[in-house]
Parts: sequence; structure tokens; C-alpha cells
Amino acid sequence: MTQGRFISFEGGEGMGKSTQARLLANFLENSGTSVVLTREPGGTPGAEAIRELLLHPPGEGWEAEAEALLFAAARSDHVARLIRPAIHDGRWVICDRYLDSSRAYQGRAGQVGDAAVRQLHAIGSHGLLPDATIVLRASTQQVERRLRERDGDETDAIGGRENSYHTAVNSAFEAFASEEPDRFLMVDGEGTIEEVHQRVLDVLFSFLPEKRS
Ligand code: TYD
Repeated sequence: MTQGRFISFEGGEGMGKSTQARLLANFLENSGTSVVLTREPGGTPGAEAIRELLLHPPGEGWEAEAEALLFAAARSDHVARLIRPAIHDGRWVICDRYLDSSRAYQGRAGQVGDAAVRQLHAIGSHGLLPDATIVLRASTQQVERRLRERDGDETDAIGGRENSYHTAVNSAFEAFASEEPDRFLMVDGEGTIEEVHQRVLDVLFSFLPEKRS
């Protein structure tokens, strides 16, 4: 049996990642590929329980280091119980956020540092990286409009952080994409959902053949 593929979607808040991850999963399924669509934090019962602790924390909330550890713990369960077995069975895993969110949010914006986040990933998930990571980029106006439509006045412990935190997150994703072009694919998230979906397909399928070994 051939190995499956592992694709993650990344970007700041309100970039349309979840919609695009779902559309890619549907496209692949319709073309006869076996797909697992999943998300982080979450994807397994244990990781979903940790998600609740992270997004709706009890008490005063988490310090950046504790937050990084909890994300890494959730990811460890997700990788061991869902992602690795699915890839091993020849399926395609499409994941809405993964390690690079920890690098951008906790590592950069939360100042835990990239080396520490990668170390936690090495311990928790044996360093598993996606075959391709699609970063969606959109203008500030478009993001603000989407967030208002999606969240109204409701947000969570991380989405509700100040603008400077989210600016740091967005510039971290830009930096990763330019520093690591062998894994990151930057996709313009402006325009209609269908236009962005088409861009995702074009970019992904011109990238993946070279990854075949
Ligand atoms: P979610 O509602 O899934 O947000 P979005 O729709 O923007 O993807 O909530 C996930 C939140 O958790 C989001 O604010 C990003 C944050 N996050 C981290 O800070 N670190 C991580 O490693 C991951 C996976 C997510």
C-alpha cells in the first residue's frame, strides 16, 4: 500500500482555513482518495478535551509555557492515535492547523521561542511534519470582516488577544513561508471561496508530484 499524504492549513484568525480544508477534503474524496479531515487543537477525544481547557481556560488562564505544553500534549495524542495510523493506511490527512500554529502563536507571539516549541514537538510527536503546509494570506480588512461575520462579539481565550499578538502571528507565518519554501505554500486568500479553492488545488498539485519518492 502507498503511504498517505499529510497536508496542513495555517494562517491567522479569520483567513478561511476551515472552509478551504473542507473543500480540499471534498475534492479529494470525490476523486476517489480516502481522506481524514481533522483539526487542532483537537481531532481525538483526549485532544478535544485539552482544546476546551485551552480555549476556555479555568481560573486566570495559562502562562505561555503551560499553553505550549498543552498544545504539544494535544498534538501528541492526535498524531499517535489519528494522524500516523491514517497516513500508514494510505489515507490523506487534511489538518486545520498543526505545529506551525504553535510556532507562530506560542513560539513567536507568546515568546516561548521556536527552538522550545520544536523540542516539545520532537518529544510529543517524534517531529512529524506535513508533506505540505498551505498558508492562507488575506488583507486586514477582509480578515476583520470575516471575523465579525463568524464570531460576532464572541471569541475565545486566544482569538480575543490584542492586535499586536495577532500581528506577530501573521508575520511569523509569512516568515516561515519564505524561510522554508520546501514545505510551505503561500496562497492568496482574497476573493471568493471558489477562487481560493482553485488556487489551493493549483498550488498543491504542482508542488506534490516532486515530493513523490
Ligand atoms: P479555532 O476556533 O479552531 O480558531 P481558527 O478558526 O482561527 O482556526 O481555535 C483555535 C485557536 O487556537 C486559534 O486562536 C489558534 C490557536 N492555536 C494556537 O495558539 N496554537 C496551536 O498550536 C494551535 C493548533 C492553535
